[in-house]
Amino acid sequence: MNLNLYNLFMLSDKLRNDFPQLKVKHNGHSLIYLDSAATTLKPQKVIDAITEYYEKFSCSTGRGNYFLSSQLESKINESMKSIAKFLNCEEEEVVFSYNTTYLINIISKILASNVKENDEIILSHAEHSSNLLPWYMIAKQKNLKIKFCPFNKDLTIGVSEIKSVISPKTKIVSLAHMTNVLGNTIDVHGIGNFLKEKNIYFVVDGAQSISYHPVDVKKIQCDFYVFSAHKMCGPTGLGIMYGRKKILEKSEAVIAGGHMLKSLTTDGSHDFVSLSSKRKWQPGTSNYAAIFAMKETISYLQEVGVDNIKKHCIELKQYLVSELKKLPNIEMYNEKLESSILTFNIKNCSAEDVSFDLSSKGICIRHGDHCSKILKNIIKVQASLRISFYLYNRKEEIDYLVKQIKKGKDFLNHLFE
Ligand SMILES: Cc1ncc(COP(=O)(O)O)c(C=O)c1O
Repeated sequence: MNLNLYNLFMLSDKLRNDFPQLKVKHNGHSLIYLDSAATTLKPQKVIDAITEYYEKFSCSTGRGNYFLSSQLESKINESMKSIAKFLNCEEEEVVFSYNTTYLINIISKILASNVKENDEIILSHAEHSSNLLPWYMIAKQKNLKIKFCPFNKDLTIGVSEIKSVISPKTKIVSLAHMTNVLGNTIDVHGIGNFLKEKNIYFVVDGAQSISYHPVDVKKIQCDFYVFSAHKMCGPTGLGIMYGRKKILEKSEAVIAGGHMLKSLTTDGSHDFVSLSSKRKWQPGTSNYAAIFAMKETISYLQEVGVDNIKKHCIELKQYLVSELKKLPNIEMYNEKLESSILTFNIKNCSAEDVSFDLSSKGICIRHGDHCSKILKNIIKVQASLRISFYLYNRKEEIDYLVKQIKKGKDFLNHLFE
């Protein structure tokens, strides 16, 4: 951990200056962005890299022999290398697509051919719809059973919770490393080890954790680990998947098209052979600008240090909790969990009205069910407010937010002034 940088980070505005969007004003108020679990702001370095692709390297790779195409190919390979290093996997195990959602759909289709009727998939009640609906789809198609793993009293999942729900019919466990409403982190290492011994596929939704926990997929021993670049200071429109090489090699393509075809028959048998594993999973033209910018994205996160970001966010959350505790009308659902996320409600106020009111003061926070429709089975409310921090947030923003929240019951007054 780079502690010097961490101290610097706490003391200076340098890192905030890296994010041009923080200069945006709304109704004369400075932007207070507290929705980084949805998507993070982007540092200038990443924005510049995206522009550089469009200004200097705009072309398609793998289809041309000309100089631009090979220059772009080597840039893409550099990004691929830095992602593989970041995750501790081989380059052939990194696959690009649009986002986490799309990739979990692809994984569910890959694994669908390895299960049979009545086999079981284990999920949790805190999963994002993106790690729920793809499994619902294949469960329906193949007549599989979905079971939900319980949480322990600390609102997390470890090996004992998994043991309590698996059976000889369990074939797939798919869980978020860190969930998007409670911000709880599961014991991915313990679970990964256990599932490997049992020969059960382990899919990890890393959409929230990738920007917050250092990830080593080999230590986790998962079969798939997926995340979206836009939640880690990177560009939108890019999902990244680690897939175990053996599975990627032996599995059939689940979507197909240009850029991945080796040969095909025209004798009526409708067979085709895909190119190498990497190509097989990325048919069509990729989001080159985004992939291009991933090298800068990773280098930015490494410069600041994911551990430092985590420490900073935990500190901010603890401060927010202590300030909100001073108010009489707040109901918090995950105050004890060490994370970047606080989910709460203001008693007798609808979450939607509160977020709308705060928005008029330049504060962006999320309201609703946060795409986790069945979390209500755990926190017992359907709609809540969610504040999620990232490296650019600071205590002064919390002071301003709490000051606005203190107005409590006057929330809607400004609408009628
Ligand atoms: C835990 C989790 N999984 C999956 C997703 C879906 O990510 P995307 O919209 O980038 O596909 C999100 C987005 O908020 C998330 O928080």
